[in-house]
Amino acid sequence: MKKAKVVKVFESNGDVVTFRYPRYADHEALMVMRNSLVKQKAFIGQRKVTLNEARGHMLSSLRNIKEKTSVVLVVEIDGRVVGKASVSKVPKSRIYKEPKASYHRRVRIAEYWLGIFLASSAQGRGIGKKLMQAVIDEAKNVLKVRRIFLGVFAANHRARSLYHKMGFVQMGRKGKGKKKHHGVFRYGLCMAMSLQ
Ligand SMILES: CC(C)(COP(=O)(O)OP(=O)(O)OC[C@H]1O[C@@H](n2cnc3c(N)ncnc32)[C@H](O)[C@@H]1OP(=O)(O)O)[C@@H](O)C(=O)NCCC(=O)NCCS
Repeated sequence: MKKAKVVKVFESNGDVVTFRYPRYADHEALMVMRNSLVKQKAFIGQRKVTLNEARGHMLSSLRNIKEKTSVVLVVEIDGRVVGKASVSKVPKSRIYKEPKASYHRRVRIAEYWLGIFLASSAQGRGIGKKLMQAVIDEAKNVLKVRRIFLGVFAANHRARSLYHKMGFVQMGRKGKGKKKHHGVFRYGLCMAMSLQ
């Protein structure tokens, strides 16, 4: 199997936790993990991804990493992939698709976008905080980013607390109003952090 660059290794509750760049073979584990978070109604997208979509996402992630438009880290605990974080350049196609929405007007200036999710077994153990720091450091060194944006549901208190602690500040609402998430209308927020 092709070796992937390892960024950080540490211990958490007796488990060895590794942050590393992804390999193509990770797509299936990431799909299973993401779909189980969707089933748990976690504050991420509400649609399950298919194996074909997961393959496509992984291929484009690997291409973007190579072209230095994204950094992507996966979390491995004892050989199992249990999380992912990325900072990616916002594609122009996405920026101009819906120019009327306030969220997309913000995205127009948001060059880089951060995403993060962990399997429920890996949550609440301080791993998210370390993963955010690692992916931000990579983005700073590899992509030379100066400002990072992200979107978060207002009701996602754990994620908001994490982002706030990392230095992200609220820019305003994401979108014009509430968005339906698993049948419940919820507000989204846009947050940003400037890097020195
Ligand atoms: C959001 C997420 C990445 C946070 O990672 P995590 O490893 O669970 O969080 P950590 O254990 O590193 O805790 C980070 C901070 O969150 C806060 N936090 C932790 N558990 C919390 C809880 N149950 N309720 C509220 N805040 C909490 C604390 O402020 C904590 O900082 P502290 O340890 O200095 O007190 C992770 O829980 C996750 O993937 N959740 C599901 C998907 C998701 O919501 N992704 C984000 C989409 S915007």
